[in-house]
Amino acid sequence: MNKRFITFEGGEGSGKTTIINRLVKDLEEKGIKVLKSREPGGSKISEQIRNVILGVENVKMDYITEALLYAASRRQHLEEIVKPALNEGYLVICDRYIDSSLAYQGYARGLGIDEVYNLNYYATGGLLPDLTIFIDVIPEEGLSRISKNNRSKDRLDLEQMDFHHRVREGYLELVRRFPERIKIVDGNGNLEEVYLAVKKIVFENI
Ligand code: TYD
Repeated sequence: MNKRFITFEGGEGSGKTTIINRLVKDLEEKGIKVLKSREPGGSKISEQIRNVILGVENVKMDYITEALLYAASRRQHLEEIVKPALNEGYLVICDRYIDSSLAYQGYARGLGIDEVYNLNYYATGGLLPDLTIFIDVIPEEGLSRISKNNRSKDRLDLEQMDFHHRVREGYLELVRRFPERIKIVDGNGNLEEVYLAVKKIVFENI
């Protein structure tokens, strides 16, 4: 089956953004119409919600509030950006989607994967990606990349190491639950190797 809605997942500093940018360029060079977007955000309303969720001043945010805001941002982005693009025949590539909520809020925050899945099922009307690529990086490696690049840290980057390990465990659990949809790529090597592994999976599936 042709995969039209592809999402990327991974912990902090997994290299998703760089990989997606290269992939989009290669797909466009093949004449494929691609829409690239990201979560949380990707539309004006969703970006506003993103600022509330990730604002460093919002340390008091309740975990369920956080999960609801991610789901709200997702809904808006889906209706406003993703669905219209899919209907117009674009290949949609999204940096994070439902699995981020399942790994971060469901597993790492402890709200429960099933509970957060149900919330997101409602928010998305059950629209799952056709293909998800999880770039698996050991948290110590990912976070050291962020500090080397001097990228500014948001509220979630500042979580304890233990949290980032739980996020990774959450993703590994999702790979076990959805083996058909989620493909795992070892992201610890050099970026070129990681990119080639990702490119192979995507080009075999579209
Ligand atoms: P972002 O700056 O986009 O990070 P990255 O470059 O790592 O994708 O910040 C997104 C943060 O939000 C990231 O820490 C993961 C988190 N997140 C969730 O906890 N749940 C979600 O549903 C989504 C979409 C993101």
